[in-house]
This record gives sequence, structure tokens and C-alpha cells, in this order.
Amino acid sequence: MLVTIVGGGMITRDQLLPSIYHMQRLGLIGDITVCASRRRTVESLASDEQILRAFPGQRFRALPDSSDSDVSRPDLYLEALRRLPPRQIVVAAVPDELHFEVIMAALRHDQHVCAVKPLVLEYKQAIQIEQEARSRNLVVGVEYHKRFDDRSLMARQKYRAGFFGDFRLGTAHLMEKWYYRHSNFQNWCTDVFTYIGCHYVDLVHFITGLLPTRVSVYGIPDLYPNGKEGYLWTDARIIWSNGACLNVQNSLGVPDVAPGTNAQGLTMYCQTSTGGALLAHSDQYRGLKHSSSDLYTEPSPDYFQYVDLGGPGLTPVGYGYRSVEYILKQCLGVEQAAPESRSVLLRELDNAGIMATPANSSYNELVIEAGRVSIENGGSDVPLSSIRPN
Ligand SMILES: NC(=O)c1ccc[n+]([C@@H]2O[C@H](COP(=O)([O-])OP(=O)(O)OC[C@H]3O[C@@H](n4cnc5c(N)ncnc54)[C@H](O)[C@@H]3O)[C@@H](O)[C@H]2O)c1
Repeated sequence: MLVTIVGGGMITRDQLLPSIYHMQRLGLIGDITVCASRRRTVESLASDEQILRAFPGQRFRALPDSSDSDVSRPDLYLEALRRLPPRQIVVAAVPDELHFEVIMAALRHDQHVCAVKPLVLEYKQAIQIEQEARSRNLVVGVEYHKRFDDRSLMARQKYRAGFFGDFRLGTAHLMEKWYYRHSNFQNWCTDVFTYIGCHYVDLVHFITGLLPTRVSVYGIPDLYPNGKEGYLWTDARIIWSNGACLNVQNSLGVPDVAPGTNAQGLTMYCQTSTGGALLAHSDQYRGLKHSSSDLYTEPSPDYFQYVDLGGPGLTPVGYGYRSVEYILKQCLGVEQAAPESRSVLLRELDNAGIMATPANSSYNELVIEAGRVSIENGGSDVPLSSIRPN
């Protein structure tokens, strides 16, 4: 199958393209196209030294192609979709507010979709995507890669086997480095709860199977270097279907000199029939300390690394790779199945709940939509029933 990635920014460079290149090297998928809105984006991706070192001899088709000057071509991806044969794979890797139009366009051109998180910004859009995909027997997988961290899968298995009893209180945080403020994010990221808070909300559902019912998000407005304002510090409280409460703090505020690429983790306090139970994940400090001369780092071997397994090039490893591979393999599996069994396979994927799909994860859209209402109202308590139409 052919793969077209729409968007050539940070997540495409750091995770998506290398993962898909590796699948191409393994013979699992065919030609790759990356379509951005500007020529300079795909030029910089094509000349990325790390990617060239890891995948010698592999290339993607770049759009806009060299004949285009560096004007913005926001509709070019539609042309690329029109030229694709049906039932290939489109990866949506554009800023959050563009996910809906890119995903719907891909589905209407009969393409399977892998979408970066959050799927979309509104609950009703998730439902529309679910219906469009269902009517065409197409896969839509939402790339919540923390699900493919083995510690999340271990927690899910143990929680669902009753080891931790019932979730009661939890705290999670995901703080990105200060320098993110200087990136392209300043052009589109208006609040950090929508951008990164969704990870741990999704993970608590993934582990426990509980559903969120109420949300309040307090946000502190701050200025990006380009003068745009955003809620760059947020504190959220999520109430769950069993009455449990999760606190999630997010920011673009970790000092650039801090070790590791961010600060993040999850602690869940639970209750069994005989006493308390505890699950604690440090997702930033994975036990590694590297230092030399004036540099000290605490790298994570778990999300995404390139390792030398004897070549050619380097092999991407980690849950960032496994997550992309899992979603693309589901597209391949559905496409290789007999047409009459595809809808059954798709329902099985929804029910298994390992891969986030519009049908099994639209609680995420309810939470971020309610979160935006709350944040604009000083952190008011917003029941999700007020967002979901009856
Ligand atoms: N942890 C995660 O799962 C994770 C991490 C980072 C980003 N993301 C998500 O990935 C998405 C993109 O983030 P990023 O970090 O790559 O952002 P970015 O700002 O670095 O890149 C966005 C890209 O989209 C492209 N783009 C914008 N409009 C386009 C259009 N009309 N057609 C084609 N391309 C267009 C831009 O050229 C740019 O290359 C966001 O939704 C973000 O939330 C997820």
C-alpha cells in the first residue's frame, strides 16, 4: 500500500516518517509521499541528517515539488489525494485545527487514516468521522503512542485483572521544554491541555476502562515569542464514571537545561477490598544518566531511538515506532481481508480497544471540548453531558 503523510513538521520528522521508512524497508508498505503546505518544509525534511543516516537510499516524494516556489499551498494535499488510488493510507500530521478537514477529505477519497492525536477538536466531528469511515469500511487509528509503552500495557492488564482494585485519586503531568514556545507551535497551539493533556486522560481510560464525566481546567494565559497569547500553563481536574478524580498539569515550561526531553509521569492511588493500591510511572526518568564534559542528560530509551542492529542504516525502536506500525498493520490487515469480512474486523478493533478509534475514544473529544469551555470560564466545572448531544 502507498502512504501519504500530510504535514511535514516535528512529529513527522521525529517519529512518523522514520517509522514508515522502516516499514518500507521491511517490505510492508510501498512508496511514501509527504505533502506539506510549503516547499521549504519538505526540503528540510528530505535533508534531515539523522533520517538520511538511518535510511540510506530511501526517499519520499515531496510535495510541493521542486517546480513550486515557496508560496503556501494549503490545498495541495487535496490534489495529492485525488491522484491516489483508492484504499491506500493517509497519515494526518497537521496542526490540531486542520485534522477534521484532512481526515474527512482522506475518507471521502476512500483512504485509510492514521491520525496524530487529538483526533479532532469537537465531539460531533469525531462522530462524523466514525460514520464516514464505517460506511466505507476504512480504518481510522488515532496515534496515542503512550498506549504502546509496555508499562501502559502492563498496567492495563493488571488493572483489568483486579490487581489495583478501584481507581480513586490520581495525578499526572506532562511539561514540555520552554523552547517549544519558539517553534511553529506558536502559530497554532492555543492551550496546552488540548495539546498534551489528552495523553494522560486517554491513558487513564486505556488502563482502567473508566469514562470521564466532568472536567474543569484552570489556565494561565502567557505570550509566545511572536506575541500570540495561549494558555501555556494548565491545571485540569477530570472526574470519572466511578467518582475517581484525576489531576493533570501541563505546560511549555520545563527549563531547556533540564535533563530529559520533558517532565512527565502518572500516579494512581487505588483501593482494593483489603487496602490501598498504588501505580506510579516516572515517564521522564527511565533510569539512564549520560554525562560528559559540561553535559548531563537522562535520555529515554523507550519512546523513540535509532539503534545500530547491523544495518543498513539504523533501526527505529520504541513505543513511538510500535504505535505507528500497529496502526498501519491494521490498515494492511483490513485491506487484505475479504471485502465481506472487513466490517467485522473493524468492529473487533473498536472492541479490543488497543488502538484508539473514533468509535472507542471520542471521550477524548468530549474532554477537550469541555476543557475549552471551562478554561474560558475561569476553570468552571463542565459536565460532559452538556457537550454530548442526547
Ligand atoms: N505526542 C504526540 O502524540 C504528538 C507530538 C507532537 C505533535 N503531535 C500532533 O501532531 C500534529 C502536528 O504537530 P507537529 O509537532 O508536527 O507540528 P508542526 O507545527 O511542527 O508541524 C505542522 C505541519 O503541518 C503542515 N501543514 C499545515 N497546514 C498544512 C496544509 N494545509 N497542508 C499540508 N501541510 C500543512 C506544516 O507545514 C507543518 O509542517 C498536531 O496535531 C500535534 O498535536 C502529537
